[in-house]
Order: sequence, then C-alpha cells, then structure tokens
Amino acid sequence: MVRLGSMSASSFSARRARVQAALGDDVLVIASTPVALRNNDVEHDYRQDSDLYYLTGFDEPQTVLVLRGGRAPQFVLFVRPRDPEREVWDGAREGVEGALANYGADQAFPAAQLEATLPELLGDAPRLHYRLGRDRAFDELVLRALDRVRARARTGVSAPGAIVDPGLIVHELRLYKQPEELEAMRRALAITGEAHLEAMRQTQPGMYEYEVEALVNGTFRRRGAERLAYSSIVGGGPNATVLHYRRNDRQLQAGELLLIDAGCEAGYYASDITRTFPVSGRFSEPQRQLYDLVLQAQLASIAAAIPGATLDEVHAASVNVLAQGLRELGFFQESLEEVLERQLYRPYYMHRTSHWLGMDVHDVGAYFVAGKPRPLAPGMVLTVEPGLYVSETAPCPERYRGLGIRIEDDVLVTVGAAEVLSQFIPKTVAEVERACTA
Ligand code: GLY
Ligand code: MN
Ligand code: MN
Repeated sequence: MVRLGSMSASSFSARRARVQAALGDDVLVIASTPVALRNNDVEHDYRQDSDLYYLTGFDEPQTVLVLRGGRAPQFVLFVRPRDPEREVWDGAREGVEGALANYGADQAFPAAQLEATLPELLGDAPRLHYRLGRDRAFDELVLRALDRVRARARTGVSAPGAIVDPGLIVHELRLYKQPEELEAMRRALAITGEAHLEAMRQTQPGMYEYEVEALVNGTFRRRGAERLAYSSIVGGGPNATVLHYRRNDRQLQAGELLLIDAGCEAGYYASDITRTFPVSGRFSEPQRQLYDLVLQAQLASIAAAIPGATLDEVHAASVNVLAQGLRELGFFQESLEEVLERQLYRPYYMHRTSHWLGMDVHDVGAYFVAGKPRPLAPGMVLTVEPGLYVSETAPCPERYRGLGIRIEDDVLVTVGAAEVLSQFIPKTVAEVERACTA
C-alpha cells in the first residue's frame, strides 16, 4: 500500500472522489498556505493548508490544487519544479514528476505555469469553488483567470457564473472522521497523554513553568509528533485563571495547582488536552472541592454528547452542574434558577464547553445549519472542556480565590455513548494524585 505521510494514498483519492461527486461539473481551486516571513531572512515553520493536505497529502509550499468533477473529472496539481541547486539548500522536492508518480495527479505543472493554464481549467464550469479573501494576491490571480475565460465567450467557452466557498463541501467531509483519521487522532493523543503524564510525574515545587513546558513539548517531538497543535499553556497558581496564558515563566510554589493545556499534532491531526494537578502531589480540600465539581460537570457534558444533541446542550450540562455546585460551596446566595437566568456563574466560567477537533485544533465544520445549532452525529469529534476560574479578588469564600481548573478531553460521537479518546490520561482526583506521586 502506497503511503503519503501517515496515511494510505487511497485515503486521499477516496476523499477527492467524494469531493468530485459533490462538485458535479463545477471546478474547485485550493492554494497552499503562503510561506510567512518571521524576520529578515527567517521563515516561520511551514505547515500545509489543511484542506489542501486533506485532499492530496502534498505538503510543499507553492502548491495549487484544481479539481473538477462531472463528466470529465480531473485532478491537477501546480507544484514547485525540481531545482537541484535549491534542493541542496532546502531538501528534495517532489516536482512535477513526483506529483504525477507519487500523488496520483492526472496532470501536473510547474507553479509558474498557473497563470497561463488556469483559465483553461475553469472553462465551462457552472461554478468556481474558491475561498476568496484569505490571500489577496492569489485572489487577484484567480480573478484574472476568470476574466480571461470571460474573454473567450465568443469561442463558445462559458465562464463560471458564481464563486462559492469550497468549505461547503470539504469542511462538511472533514467534520465526519473516517477510520484512518481517528487512527491518526489516537496516535496524537497517545503522545499527548504521555506528555501530560510525564508532567504530573516530574513537576516539583520550585520548578519554573517553562521547565514543565519544555518537558511537554520535548515529549511531543521525542515521540515523533511534527509540531504543537497550538502553543502550550502551562499556568501555575493564579496563572491558571488566565485562559490564554502564554508567558509560562513563573516559579511554581508548593500547594498550588498547575493547569496544562497542551496537545501535539501528529500526521496533520490535532489533539487538545487540559489537565490540572497539584504541584506538591496532593489536592488541598478547597482545591479538591472545585476539581471534583469541574469533573462532575465534564462527565455530565460527555454523557450529553449523543447523536441528536447539540453543543448548546453539551454546554448546558456543564453549566447546570457548575452553577449548582458553586451555589452549594457558597459562591451565591441567589436561587439556582436566578444563578442560571442571570448567568451569575459567568465570572467563573466564561467560555464555551466544546469545539470541533480534527486537522485544526478549532476544526472546520458548521456549528449552525439553517440558523439552528447542528445536532451531533456519529463520526464527529469534539472537545469537552469545562473549567472554573476564580480570580484573586472574587466575591466568594476566600479559600477558593486564585484557583483555576480546566479538564479537557477529546470525544468521539458514536451511535451510543460518546467515546472519550483520551480516557487513559489520569483525571479523577485519585488517578491524578497517583500519577503525581509515582
Ligand atoms: N487549546 C485550545 C482550546 O482549548 O481551545
Ligand atoms: Mn485546550
Ligand atoms: Mn479546546
């Protein structure tokens, strides 16, 4: 079986076939992510556009995919040509030859021929599926090509009558994970789980947050993940209450909690996991009370993630548990109805509980369909990540101030109960304490 990256070549051709079936006589154009300059001569690490990779497995920059369906289906790639001199510096390229031989393209051209060749490929397609607005220079090239097709009207060629977003087809497919995608996600999670476990084992009072970050990120790379799915958040003590904390430069104190939100990307699939654990290995009583409350909220949301339910319902399950629990712990004097009605819990839980997960950490796929929250269906993967974030000045019992806790798992919707893909990462108080003192 020919493999491209971590998947069989047939996985990519099957995806293209599904897109081509949905296109009918239409044409689709997807360009690779432009190389981004970091500073002076230095570039940011390159990562292929997820849609382009999903349909080709091709990971080089300056690539353009053109796909046509209908009676004359075509898979065309524009790629960087072979260039022995450049390859000495930057490594081997597939070139036109590789695009044909290894990636199954029906036709392949050097990227420089795009401008001249694209009009031909757009001719007679009723609609063009192209995402306008992301790369203005490339938009211009596509619009010029359209104009040139229009100029051929007298020769009997018709230009696309509409431009539509390719996401309507491609992102719908990406929302439902195929078995080989789930395999990639499980592999990413195996690595991410090991990193979180290693952090629980090795964290000690006196360490700096960046030392733990290095341990986590180092485990990702050591186990072969290509990159982070997002920048790792390692927040000790009150930093755990900052949702997008990124400095990771504080010294951890005995008795504090440490929140780690970190996930690797492996084989172009993301993982997204948060665990919160005691720096000294044992939860204090107030820490345990809040931790157990977040855990109960998370379990309620996971139980709610069944086919037909919506993400609003998954979120509401957490909110109800958190609101009631906070009230019992003395955060509010108001009735539960009033806490929920007036959203009095929001200073402590201000984000949503879930997002789609896949090739992108905040993955594609419409959250609303025809103006209504989309019902869950088997094959979708989402995060379930409730938390509590109590500022140091919060009007609540003093013992809870400065505590930040989030528990985040990655969950697959099945025909029955949701499958927690990250089930094996320590999560209950007993499991976490055992991992911390192992
Ligand atoms: N780590 C990003 C998120 O949890 O959504
Ligand atoms: Mn996260
Ligand atoms: Mn998340």
